[in-house]
Amino acid sequence: MKIILPSSTAPLRRLSRMLKGKAYSEARFFIILDENTYQHCLAPLVAQVEPLQMSELIEVPAGEAGKEPAIAAQVWESLCESGADRHSVIVNLGGGCVSDLGGFVAAAFKRGVRHINIPTTLVGMADAAIGGKTALNIGGFKNQAGFFHQPDIVCIDPEFLQTLPPDELTDGVFEMLKTFLIAGSDLYGPLCDSMLGVNPTLPPDMIAACAEIKNAVVKADPYDLGTRHILNFGHTFGHAIEAFSLQQGTPLSHGRAVGIGMAAALALSVGKLGLNAAIAERYREVAARLTPMPHYSLADSENILRFMRQDKKNAAGEIRCVLLKEPGAPVIDLAIDENEIRQALLRL
Ligand SMILES: NC(=O)c1ccc[n+]([C@@H]2O[C@H](COP(=O)([O-])OP(=O)(O)OC[C@H]3O[C@@H](n4cnc5c(N)ncnc54)[C@H](O)[C@@H]3O)[C@@H](O)[C@H]2O)c1
Ligand SMILES: [Zn+2]
Repeated sequence: MKIILPSSTAPLRRLSRMLKGKAYSEARFFIILDENTYQHCLAPLVAQVEPLQMSELIEVPAGEAGKEPAIAAQVWESLCESGADRHSVIVNLGGGCVSDLGGFVAAAFKRGVRHINIPTTLVGMADAAIGGKTALNIGGFKNQAGFFHQPDIVCIDPEFLQTLPPDELTDGVFEMLKTFLIAGSDLYGPLCDSMLGVNPTLPPDMIAACAEIKNAVVKADPYDLGTRHILNFGHTFGHAIEAFSLQQGTPLSHGRAVGIGMAAALALSVGKLGLNAAIAERYREVAARLTPMPHYSLADSENILRFMRQDKKNAAGEIRCVLLKEPGAPVIDLAIDENEIRQALLRL
């Protein structure tokens, strides 16, 4: 897998050169996109990447509606009708929903064809496009079916973010904060400063650094058997908060729910692992700037706990989660007492 990171040379130009190489001489390209990336991202892509100019386009519904088995089946049918073969290459132009679906489609088509991810959201660039996890939702439950199928190339061009709605950007910022915290990156402080400032900015170097960290974590544990679990920091709380918000009829995006979940996980880390309280406090300040922090009642915390008990990372009837001893020193698979969880939620 090759990652093309934003640097002095335009990423899309570099992709273009790679696709003109021998490895793709027999390839036919199929671009999977949604209505928004069709509108905003296709023209800049084909203007700079000549080999993709004659690609066939397959449009799928935007968002989670695209990550459905019925949609995957439609894409396979389109591929068959167009005579796609084992040399065909799927090009995913979109956010995490497009790359999860397109990666899944590629993993199964003809027992596996190559795919290229061109993320167009910050979540995609910092997280979803990298790592080879592909997924479909089943019966309303997220990511129930999937393969590990590494993309051939991930090409990150932050220019695509120009048209991304600000709310979507915030989701990606939370995943970046997570990555920098667990890795102990020097960029965590500057990212917090930027988000607390009057004019938050996201330098391409910061996005590149985040993508590199994610890639390094994945390389060390591609099948998510151990160390890769550090990427779940904030997610045990986050998934439960996401499900609870949906149940309450006030749905929070995944990124925001994880952002709130990280505040709870950091508070718990102070009490349980001796994390410096100032770190948890500063994070909370940043998170509150990005999204309103909820005030949970005892009944709410009970409800959230119920969702946490269903988490697939639990073992032996215990709730397991990732906490932080200090930035760069996450502890995985820690069994947490339910009372501690209640307290962390009530203190949000
Ligand atoms: N596989 C992984 O490792 C992994 C990691 C994190 C998240 N995910 C998955 O990713 C999904 C979320 O991804 P996401 O946050 O990128 O959401 P998304 O793919 O739904 O994109 C968000 C919205 O932005 C639109 N959009 C995309 N790019 C745009 C652009 N440049 N300009 C204007 N609009 C644009 C999309 O059409 C969509 O409406 C979830 O399903 C999640 O489970 C997967
Ligand atoms: Zn996440």
